[in-house]
Amino acid sequence: MAQRFEASDWQTYKMDFQHPHREIEPVEREIAIVDKALDALISAGILPHKEYDHERFRAHRAAVRDLFEIPWTAITPRLQRVLYAINAITQPRVMVATGIFCGNTYISNAGAAIGPGACYTASRLVGIEIKPDEAARARRNVARVDPTGVGEIVAMDGVAWLRDCTEEIDLLYLDANGAGKGKSIYLDMVQAALHSLRPGSIVLAHNSQNDSGTLADYLAFMRDPKQFRESVNVVVDDQGLEVSIR
Ligand SMILES: C[S@@+](CC[C@H](N)C(=O)[O-])C[C@H]1O[C@@H](n2cnc3c(N)ncnc32)[C@H](O)[C@@H]1O
Repeated sequence: MAQRFEASDWQTYKMDFQHPHREIEPVEREIAIVDKALDALISAGILPHKEYDHERFRAHRAAVRDLFEIPWTAITPRLQRVLYAINAITQPRVMVATGIFCGNTYISNAGAAIGPGACYTASRLVGIEIKPDEAARARRNVARVDPTGVGEIVAMDGVAWLRDCTEEIDLLYLDANGAGKGKSIYLDMVQAALHSLRPGSIVLAHNSQNDSGTLADYLAFMRDPKQFRESVNVVVDDQGLEVSIR
């Protein structure tokens, strides 16, 4: 049976996509709900613990709010914290994010290793976006919080990039909506990346709740124990994040 964590108010917790920095709930409540989601990932054997530096996360959030140009995003404050926490806890040496649009989803992951929220040193943090103008905007945004240039933004098809990848990926984040395929492109992406995913690699997939229909083939693949050891649908908001471990 598919594993699922859901916040009791996931259907009513709503953000304004055009104003992603507006407070939706007191931060103490956000922290408590994210803690419960992290507990579910510990129970599933995906995370070893739920400790992350709340002050560094606050600095990361402030830098993104002040320095990023974000036309819109569906990454809620709760999910921003979940993504940062998973990266801060697992500390991927190589993190790859595909379909990064303006870079907000990228930095929600990479912000654990670059910028004022950094808590470890990564070797590669790659963001892939097929639209060159959005990739350029993501690059400008990331440069504002990462003057050292560790962050790497690539303008190309994520499927091709993953197919040709020659190193191990410790954490893969999926958020592309392929032309004519929508989110079902996630399955193409994870299958293109399989050779680079080691036992213990983590795959995160946005929209596991609101796009569960188009993601049915992807979700079935990730929840097949012959393919991935565990997979949990983390529903802290009405978008959802499937968290899987190889
Ligand atoms: C709608 S955005 C994701 C937005 C994100 N969920 C958020 O809330 O900020 C999806 C992005 O995937 C990109 N994309 C689509 N197909 C892709 C592919 N094959 N490789 C890389 N990026 C792709 C699109 O250009 C688009 O910018």
